[in-house]
Amino acid sequence: MDRFAVVKVSGAVFDLQNRGGEMVRRVADQLRAASEEGWRVAAVAGGGSVARLYIRAARELGASEAALDQLGILITRANAELLIAALGGTAYPSVPQTLEELLAASASNRSIIVMGGLQPGQSTNAVAALAAESLGAALLVNATDVDGVYTDDPRKNPSAKRLESVGVEELTLLLSGSEHKAGTYELLDHVSLRILERSRIPTVVTSYEGVLAAIRGEKVGTRIMY
Ligand code: UTP
Repeated sequence: MDRFAVVKVSGAVFDLQNRGGEMVRRVADQLRAASEEGWRVAAVAGGGSVARLYIRAARELGASEAALDQLGILITRANAELLIAALGGTAYPSVPQTLEELLAASASNRSIIVMGGLQPGQSTNAVAALAAESLGAALLVNATDVDGVYTDDPRKNPSAKRLESVGVEELTLLLSGSEHKAGTYELLDHVSLRILERSRIPTVVTSYEGVLAAIRGEKVGTRIMY
């Protein structure tokens, strides 16, 4: 049986305006290294600032919420294509658009599959959790622009502490808190938490520099406990 790791790649990695393709290349290098170490990887690309730009403009233009989500999904798939380009022949050449297509891609001999969003009403964190369930993944790495889960939003509160591990119930409470928790809310939404919980998917939240270390089982980021 193949050992699958699912990696959610934060939309922040696709900040092309400020960083060009540099972060995409760094993530691709880590995914390739993981595949050389015997892992198969399903990566899920986030939408990031470009998705937010499109969504804001389309909202101003009067698009429906469902149409805004579809637009966001298109951008996540464009980001997925960028990661595929950086991975070259290691990657499955197209972006699965459903879980069935993901499973079909997993039957190929390419060790890395990259996808974006699936359907309106959820985030790519939920996609990553669903992909992990579908593939029976050994691990889900949530690679974000913060290096783990903090007691408060570290970008706003300098005394916030990083947690080495966090129980899923505690995490739900942390994320459902008042507005000053909004920064961490983006980390994992409610839908993805419920999916992780029902299938008890081993999950690590870390920075996009820590992907390979997390896959290797090194002590990085924050581990979610069930
Ligand atoms: P993301 O979930 O990637 O948002 O999808 P994000 O804010 O960039 O997340 P991070 O930074 O990677 O954590 C972008 C948008 O695409 C739509 C939603 O509108 C979401 O806000 N989307 C994405 C869906 O509707 N369904 C999906 O399955 C995925």
